[in-house]
Amino acid sequence: MKKIKIGNNPYLLPMPMVIVGSSIGKRPNFMAVAWVSRVNAKPALMSIAIGRHATAQAIQHTGEYSINIPPVDLVKETDLLGIVSGSDFDKSSLFEVFYGSLRKAPMIRQCPVTMECKVVQAVELPVDVLFIGEVVGVWSEERFLSDGNPDVEKVKPFCLTMPDNRYWSVGSEVGRAWHDGLGLKDSLSRAAEKA
Ligand SMILES: Cc1cc2nc3c(=O)[nH]c(=O)nc-3n(C[C@H](O)[C@H](O)[C@H](O)COP(=O)(O)O)c2cc1C
Repeated sequence: MKKIKIGNNPYLLPMPMVIVGSSIGKRPNFMAVAWVSRVNAKPALMSIAIGRHATAQAIQHTGEYSINIPPVDLVKETDLLGIVSGSDFDKSSLFEVFYGSLRKAPMIRQCPVTMECKVVQAVELPVDVLFIGEVVGVWSEERFLSDGNPDVEKVKPFCLTMPDNRYWSVGSEVGRAWHDGLGLKDSLSRAAEKA
């Protein structure tokens, strides 16, 4: 099939949706975020890329934030958090808020998995600030776990695609990681030289 170049838009399909919690003074604030990733194993670090929003200012100030994983039944609330600013509205009234060990990282009781993070680095990019934070505590409930870990079928997270701006639930399992590739290993020839 002929390949066609379709520009240089960074199409990452899909992106998991999270809600980032921060503190504007004493008030908890929440925003919708799709630009989120794990970035280091030990210590456990997670990054979020945030534009010049109220949230970015708040995190710069406190050095703390939370990452909350909303379930599909919070699509509308999550979307609203991405439309209006904490500078204009008290978005915390949408949820029950709780805290772990960090006093400036408010978390959402209605989210099945929430993580409190302490900033270890803030990288100023041309438009966004990349906050890298150490995960100091993860909170959930027994009903969302299998073998002690969050179970995707119980948590029911959702994703975003851009630029069509649509939300998607997670589909069915298609394989086992660090396992299904092993059957293909014999088809590889050995590298003549080590890289
Ligand atoms: C689906 C969706 C995803 C978003 N992802 C991000 C993101 O990753 N980074 C970002 O800076 N803004 C993102 N936004 C925009 C912010 O959530 C929005 O500007 C929000 O109002 C900022 O809130 P604040 O002013 O209370 O901080 C997203 C918005 C939506 C609807």
